[in-house]
Amino acid sequence: MAATRQSDNFDGQFYQPAEQFFPANSRLALTFDDITLATLYSEILPRDTQLDTTLAEGLHLNIPVISSDMDTVTESRMAIAMALNGGLGLIHYNMPERQQLSEVSRVKNHVHGLIQEPIKVSPGQSIGDVLALIEQKKFGFSTFPVVDEKGKLVGLLSGHVVKPRYAKKKVSEALTPRSQVHTVKNKELGKDPIARADKFFTEHIGIHKLLVVDDHDHLSGLITMSDVERITQERNAQFKPARDARFHLLCGAAVSATRNAFGELDRARILNHVGALVERGVDIVAVSTAHGHSKGVGDTVKVLRDAFPKLPIIAGNVTSAAAVEFLAGCGANAIKVGQGPGSICTTRIVAGVGIPQMTALYVCSRAAAKKKVTILADGGITKSGDIVKALTLSQAVICGGIFAGCNEAPGEVVEISGKLYKQYRGMGSFAAMKAGSAARYGHLPNPTQKVAPEGVEALKEACGAVDRVLAQLIGGIQSGMGYLGAANLSQLRDKARYTRVSPAGMREAAPHDVVELKTGN
Ligand code: XMP
Repeated sequence: MAATRQSDNFDGQFYQPAEQFFPANSRLALTFDDITLATLYSEILPRDTQLDTTLAEGLHLNIPVISSDMDTVTESRMAIAMALNGGLGLIHYNMPERQQLSEVSRVKNHVHGLIQEPIKVSPGQSIGDVLALIEQKKFGFSTFPVVDEKGKLVGLLSGHVVKPRYAKKKVSEALTPRSQVHTVKNKELGKDPIARADKFFTEHIGIHKLLVVDDHDHLSGLITMSDVERITQERNAQFKPARDARFHLLCGAAVSATRNAFGELDRARILNHVGALVERGVDIVAVSTAHGHSKGVGDTVKVLRDAFPKLPIIAGNVTSAAAVEFLAGCGANAIKVGQGPGSICTTRIVAGVGIPQMTALYVCSRAAAKKKVTILADGGITKSGDIVKALTLSQAVICGGIFAGCNEAPGEVVEISGKLYKQYRGMGSFAAMKAGSAARYGHLPNPTQKVAPEGVEALKEACGAVDRVLAQLIGGIQSGMGYLGAANLSQLRDKARYTRVSPAGMREAAPHDVVELKTGN
């Protein structure tokens, strides 16, 4: 039975909703560990909670977690892993523009059932040529459609004949001829090509590849049984991969407010680059800077909004209501909140600015609600409990440090005194700015020693696959929602009640007075 009205009132003197709690604490900026959430009567089991969230119209994630656009966190491998788990990766911009385009393409072309441009071979090649191609491109497969010079299907070169012993044979001698190859016409695929292919594979024992052709028998696609099985499994998973309407994984990319040699915004270059990202299928761009409440960022967002009316845009970073209103007015859909909370940030120390994260989120969230934009809590998250707290005021969180030690983060694993680490550095660190991110911190592209870095270079302990890390985080978020009786993130935002935590309370919150043998996981 729900609590009585009288005890509700009594609790309310101690545990307050955001609207009372944050204004009552307006003279002291608070962060995650300064507060705790009060539990509420619940009929919600953690495993039944829904974590889907909407960042902008038409852009939905199945979990509210985004990997940060940092050069030691998110390239295509991380973005693929994030999207497969229902979240999103923002590809960083500390690389040549062309490389960022290829990174986005890799994510968008990752297994999505129908491979629209399958790798093919020609009848005149030798098996040796095909083996060399596999070696050179590091393909993990060895079955190829065979087409003539006009793209017409001639047959299928099956993996079991692509062996060194047949190296001198021609593909034409080894292929399975067209008459024996299973195909489906484009127009027969219907609205759900995966369901169509799934049925086909069940009906054709031992066949693992289905080729797609047009009316003139030109090869136009390939569907493999392993992809279909993976996708069918996904459909039954609680947190499905984050995909677009065409079944491609979602992918975001960061862009900077690039300036030309005269210090003016380089509109042409920004438009060209974002145009190319859109062509590659990017789902959202993030205008990422340390100071989002600035003319350069506002103008960049406006230029992009005018040129790409439907493109979801993230902009930031900010910590004030005025800044949220400004960026929303320029056309941003989602605003990154966080100045100086990051694990590698030194902005507060170097520049003396920035606001502890929970207060910043409260202030920004109220302006965001008025302007109908979303808030992304960016930085400072070290544990799942921080995410639960952040999600009481935001639509998603952006994490860097939590993912920097994962296998999917860029960079090598290094061993120091028997322990494994990966490099993690701030985008405002001297090394990252030298590699290209200086514009994000308002410095010239080639920073000299005079520039004050606002981030450090550090190491994170290697922590395995993103799947594992996310499973722990998601488990924690669902637990928190269960304690608050929140079936979804909107209810979490409505139900949250806060109280301050004393330093002794903080010590009480972590394991204490024990000799710890093993951490929770
Ligand atoms: P976490 O705590 O997840 O923070 O490691 C990642 C976020 O920190 C921001 N970031 C920086 N902030 N100097 C800063 O003040 C930096 O060098 C820097 N690099 C990244 C960024 O918002 C990121 O998502």
